Amino acid sequence: MSPVLRPTRLPAVEPAPFGTVALTDREFARLRTLVRAETGIALRESKRALVCARLGRRLRHYGYSTFEEYCDHLQERDPAGEERRRLANAITTTKTDFYREQHHFDFLRDTVLPALVRAGVERLRLWSAGCSTGEEAYSLAATLLDGLPRGRPWDARILACDVNGDALATAEAGIYARELVAKVPAVVLKRHFTPVPGEPSLVSVNAALRELIAFRRINLCQQPWPIRTKFDVIFCRNVMIYFDRATQSTLLQALVAQLVPGGYLFLGHSESLLGAEMRLTYVARTVYQKPPPTGQG
Ligand SMILES: C[S@@+](CC[C@H](N)C(=O)[O-])C[C@H]1O[C@@H](n2cnc3c(N)ncnc32)[C@H](O)[C@@H]1O
Repeated sequence: MSPVLRPTRLPAVEPAPFGTVALTDREFARLRTLVRAETGIALRESKRALVCARLGRRLRHYGYSTFEEYCDHLQERDPAGEERRRLANAITTTKTDFYREQHHFDFLRDTVLPALVRAGVERLRLWSAGCSTGEEAYSLAATLLDGLPRGRPWDARILACDVNGDALATAEAGIYARELVAKVPAVVLKRHFTPVPGEPSLVSVNAALRELIAFRRINLCQQPWPIRTKFDVIFCRNVMIYFDRATQSTLLQALVAQLVPGGYLFLGHSESLLGAEMRLTYVARTVYQKPPPTGQG
């Protein structure tokens, strides 16, 4: 009779799928703390598999066999913060699109720009905060170039920032697959994009748009920001949804402080202001205005 085989001890964690490393509760808790410190992102329990998959590559890169070793690396062997930046690149969700939430760009063109022109503003400053791979910033640039009255010079600039350096590199390159520009209106595509020679599936953003934008790596959760400018318009869309309430509240206050009086804050479709303490006026769907200077409506 063959002997009954019994495991000598129970496994501490669920067995990992073939080829992946198991992520224990303790390791996940450590990673959550590190990710929050580096990006402000509050990882939910439901993100465990995603974390395992995305950071598993970093473990393999170093030849580590546990996430514990990777956490030690992040905390003890990363003095210049290189790996912490890679952690941010791996964890952030960069989903974006040209003219995402078209109604925001319509509101900017039809209401905000005419109001600024009427108020005699000549210097325009816009901020794409959490710009991902650049689609939002280029959509803003095209809206400005095509929406501002011609025949006079404008001092217009857009700051576009993100914590994900890989996304920023794509943004700065300004080269996109044709399927990514499918929703760009034909007239905008013709005016502001050029086919890449020898690459029929790619288009490149023209200089006129690029020249309006400065891309920079800035962590929105590390304040004070290295920014002196006050902005007429801030787009911070689909970024705060990944943060906890306290981080959202701190960020919102800092964004409002960075707006000129009368400036506009555009949030993502599922983001709303947390409380009346912001003293912002709701002016359109997920668009808010800071009180204008006294005497102006
Ligand atoms: C889902 S994308 C949204 C992109 C764009 N705003 C849009 O709505 O299409 C979120 C972006 O926020 C960035 N992000 C997340 N945490 C950040 C932080 N602490 N500082 C700066 N950017 C951050 C991510 O890297 C990502 O590119």
